[in-house]
Formats: sequence, structure tokens, C-alpha cells
Amino acid sequence: MNVIETKDLCKNYDELKAVNKLNLNVRQGEVYGLLGPNGSGKTTTIKMLTGLILASTGSASILGHKIPSKLVLNDIGYMPQETAIYLENTVHENIQLFGEIYGLTKAEIKVREVELLDFVDLSHRRNSIASTLSGGMKHRLSLACAMIHRPKLLFLDEPTVGVDPELRALFWEYFEKMAADNITVLITTHYMDEANNCTRVGLMKEGELIAEDEPHLLMESTGTKTLEEAFLALARRCD
Ligand SMILES: Nc1ncnc2c1ncn2[C@@H]1O[C@H](COP(=O)(O)OP(=O)(O)OP(=O)(O)O)[C@@H](O)[C@H]1O
Ligand SMILES: [Mg+2]
Repeated sequence: MNVIETKDLCKNYDELKAVNKLNLNVRQGEVYGLLGPNGSGKTTTIKMLTGLILASTGSASILGHKIPSKLVLNDIGYMPQETAIYLENTVHENIQLFGEIYGLTKAEIKVREVELLDFVDLSHRRNSIASTLSGGMKHRLSLACAMIHRPKLLFLDEPTVGVDPELRALFWEYFEKMAADNITVLITTHYMDEANNCTRVGLMKEGELIAEDEPHLLMESTGTKTLEEAFLALARRCD
């Protein structure tokens, strides 16, 4: 089953084609990596799929519902590129607030808080005001908040920026575990070592999806040894 399906999805800002005729199909349980240079349309794609902005033309469906649709809101999680947490509140209060937004009971929030703070390694900072956390810690809290309601589909826009290597590796273990539980993850990253862990990756350039496949197949088809080289080769082909 395709959890994300887009058909000729476009977003224009005046003359700029931020996303141009995007046809994306993401299957259930995939960790799909959306890659591409700055300004290639990754965040714009995610914002359309989560319903934050409307597409200019084209269509898309999420979990079988044509978007925008309120029906999917409780089934998706979104960690935006700009850390989205309440800076004046504590770590604990942030988790509570997000839990309440998603309609979890107090008991459910309590259980999830323990699990998630342990996962993002912030249990010891439970009572810290979010503004006093380090940059990477704010990111980690934002990730925990996006996952509070056990979404079926998770959009992660550069979730590991500023996160230290050890924790990044742990995050990836967790993403792979989620995929094994049939949770679907759409993730953007500029780290090629991370992209290698994705089930499939799609390369965007100037709003278009110019290549898509399993990482090792992209390397094979371009005759390259690393994903970075593969992407440079594919991007050059489109110049
Ligand atoms: N609200 C907006 N108004 C005008 N232009 C916009 C707006 N939002 C995005 N854009 C433009 O759309 C293009 C795609 O931006 P987008 O944020 O999707 O890129 P990205 O691939 O996520 O880049 P990065 O890797 O830097 O996060 C850019 O040229 C950007 O300036
Ligand atoms: Mg972006």
C-alpha cells in the first residue's frame, strides 16, 4: 500500500517553481529519504503533504485520504526543519502540551514521556526550560514531541542537524525499528551516511524529482562507489 501518493504536485511562488510536477509514491514501512540541495523543494513538499500549505496544482493522498484532510491529522507526525517547541516551557511541559494536542490521556502521556525522553536522552533535563537547552537538545525534544501520539506516518525535516554522532546512530536504529513496525517515515537529510540507511531515496533538484531508488542501486546505475558521488553524477546529468 502506498502511504504517500502525489500526482504532478506543484507549488509555485510567483515565477518560482518550488515543487514541479512531483510524482512520489512511498510505501508503508519505508524510510524514504528526500535529498537535494538547498532550495530544491524538500521542505515545501513536506509542508504540502502535512497540509500546512496548499498545492498550486496537482494532487496528493496520505494514508488513503486526499489532502488536505483533517482525517489524517492524528495519524501523522511532523518535525519541522525549524525546531517547533514552546521555548518558555519545560521539557516535561512540552511533552504534555503535544500529548494534549493529539488527544492522549494523562496516563498515556505519562508512559510516552518516560519512553521518549529516554529515547532522545533528555530524562535528566525534564525540568529544564526549553530555551536553556543546547541546539541539538532542542532538536531532540522536537523529535520526541512529533512522535508522542505514535503516528503511522512521520515527516522528519532534517531531524539530525546538530545532533551528535552517537545519538544520530541511535535515532537511525529507532527509525528502522519503526519501519519494522510498519510505520512510514519520510525524512530529509544532507548527511549521505544517513541516506544510505533509507529504504529508498529520492533526489530533488530545482523542484523536480530527478532520480529515485534504493541507495545501492543508485550507486550501481551511476557506476559510483558512494551515494554522494552517485548524487553528484545524477545532478550533473540534469544540468
Ligand atoms: N513562502 C515562500 N515564499 C517564497 N518562496 C518560498 C517560500 N517557501 C519556500 N520558497 C522557495 O522555494 C524553494 C524551495 O524551498 P524549500 O524550503 O522547499 O527547499 P529545501 O529543499 O527544503 O532546502 P533546504 O535544504 O535549504 O532546507 C526555495 O527557492 C525557497 O526560497
Ligand atoms: Mg528544507
